[in-house]
Amino acid sequence: MDFEKICDQRYSVRSFSSTPVEDEKIARMLEMVKKAPTARNNQPYEIFYAKTPEGISKLLPARDNYFGAPLVFVICSIDEKHWHNRQSGREFTCQDVGIIATTLMYAATEVGLGSLYVCAFDPIVAKEVLNLQGLTAECMMLVGYPNEDAKPSAMHDSRRSVEEFAHEIK
Ligand SMILES: Cc1cc2nc3c(=O)[nH]c(=O)nc-3n(C[C@H](O)[C@H](O)[C@H](O)COP(=O)(O)O)c2cc1C
Repeated sequence: MDFEKICDQRYSVRSFSSTPVEDEKIARMLEMVKKAPTARNNQPYEIFYAKTPEGISKLLPARDNYFGAPLVFVICSIDEKHWHNRQSGREFTCQDVGIIATTLMYAATEVGLGSLYVCAFDPIVAKEVLNLQGLTAECMMLVGYPNEDAKPSAMHDSRRSVEEFAHEIK
């Protein structure tokens, strides 16, 4: 599968089958994530995942709806590795974590799975339930085989045209 096809196929899945995700696919996804770039190769992240109903139920206080996903990743930043750009004073870790999550999202498509990138959860509660030390839960990725009734939402096809957002510097 080439990357263009992966981009065409991926959409936010909000209805997952309970079929478990094979360990081999989890390992392949994480190997792809490992190769993702980060600023100064800082690798300021840790990833937790739950692949059993028991594990996922521990995350319920942080967010109540996992759309039936049988596999949930929680992507965390490492507090002490937060890095600031000297010129702008802006912090880069958020971009690093976004790249890690995005790689995981497309890796899921690559191995034939659906995904949902989730930021709407309570990171304070996630920190408590996962007993995170020196880590901040930044986002989650819900992963699994899409249910038969799964379909892209209306938002999926609502995109600005390339002419609208791409600006040539002449
Ligand atoms: C950073 C980020 C956070 C998101 N958080 C949520 C979320 O909390 N809940 C949700 O249902 N979808 C969430 N989404 C999915 C977006 O709503 C979705 O990607 C967008 O509407 C485009 O639809 P598509 O993914 O089907 O192309 C998030 C996506 C991104 C990139």
